Amino acid sequence: MNVLVTGGCGFIGSNFVRSVLRQKSNCRLINLDKLTYAGNPENLRDIEDDSRYRFVKGDITDAALVEQIFTEEKIDTVVHFAAESHVDRSIAGPAEFIQTNIVGTFTLLEAARKSWLQDGTGLADKRFLHVSTDEVYGSLGATGYFTEETSYDPRSPYSASKASSDHLVQAYYHTYGLPVLITNCSNNYGPYHFPEKLIPLIINNALNDKQLPVYGDGKQVRDWLYVEDHCAAVLRVLEKGTLGQTYNIGGNNEKQNIEIVTTVCNLLDEKVGLRDSGEPRTSLIRYVTDRPGHDRRYAIDATKIKDELGWTPAVTFEEGIRKTVDWYLDNPDWVAGVLDGSYQDYYERMYGNR
Ligand code: NAD
Ligand code: DAU
Repeated sequence: MNVLVTGGCGFIGSNFVRSVLRQKSNCRLINLDKLTYAGNPENLRDIEDDSRYRFVKGDITDAALVEQIFTEEKIDTVVHFAAESHVDRSIAGPAEFIQTNIVGTFTLLEAARKSWLQDGTGLADKRFLHVSTDEVYGSLGATGYFTEETSYDPRSPYSASKASSDHLVQAYYHTYGLPVLITNCSNNYGPYHFPEKLIPLIINNALNDKQLPVYGDGKQVRDWLYVEDHCAAVLRVLEKGTLGQTYNIGGNNEKQNIEIVTTVCNLLDEKVGLRDSGEPRTSLIRYVTDRPGHDRRYAIDATKIKDELGWTPAVTFEEGIRKTVDWYLDNPDWVAGVLDGSYQDYYERMYGNR
């Protein structure tokens, strides 16, 4: 396989690149990443000298660059992670979300269409896997689950941009016969998660004796999945999924936000002791103004991927959250580097203008 991974320097993409290189000896992997604030080449420092791996700094909306990579590297497989991924940022400024998530996906689809339909090698061994989110389905009440048949009802600029990209991917399957697959996953957590998202933000603030912002009443529900389980599911869909199909991926781990925040506080108290004031870290919790349009509950029915492809999550929430907290305790320099942007200097040192 000659695989183009987009967004491989981000949270999930970097975990995916590492796990594929560990498991698959016979693949070449090209990582196309723009290195936005969320992309950090240090996430892949341990594999950057692997001869099967090439990093290209670039934008998925750059059609000439994307087409050049398809030709030069004879790309037969695309795993598309690159996106603007943070809901709060999409509320503050949606423009980048439209560009990267919609126009960027379109650019990749066009490059695949041109390259694969014209190169004479046929479509049998080609795959375009689009990584998407459960947020496209909107918000649930107290009961029920998102299935692959649930109607799309996105409610933030982020989820609307992801929904739009999902529709484009489906359109290329029906119109051009492009061999596509789509995954819609719930909330991930684990190593290399940018500390603007709930779990790493709470870990970092709690360690630094800063307030812990809980939006609204804190009773919103998310379905949490350890990132390595998500990566395994994506690989399973890539290898065994039926073309044109969507697969929901979830952890079967519904938690209210306040439970997550309390769990993290208690784990940190246990591992590093109470605050200097002698109080538990839960004393840092502050209920703040709610996120506009805040989705109340997400919950995934992952029966299809279990029954058809035999995937289920391997890591329980209790194990996963301990591993995650330990990783952040062991990697304070990584957190400091991404928050002050100094990892961008690392890119210049390592790669110059390449
Ligand atoms: P992330 O924000 O951590 O990483 C995104 C990566 O994409 C970064 O490396 C960034 O530099 C890169 N990127 C952004 N714009 C680009 C562009 N124009 N060209 C090239 N590269 C660009 O995101 P993540 O949390 O790892 O999410 C990855 C994918 O998984 C996204 O498509 C997201 O919608 C989806 N997803 C995420 C979650 C989650 O909980 N994090 C859950 C379900 C689905
Ligand atoms: O469901 C999948 C989605 O999960 C992905 O598609 C997104 O890319 C990913 O960012 C994530 O979106 P959320 O909005 O659910 O994640 P976030 O970590 O931003 O927030 C999780 C919940 O915690 C949400 O209900 C908002 C709340 N929250 C978040 C932050 C950052 C707080 O209460 N306080 C906070 O400071």
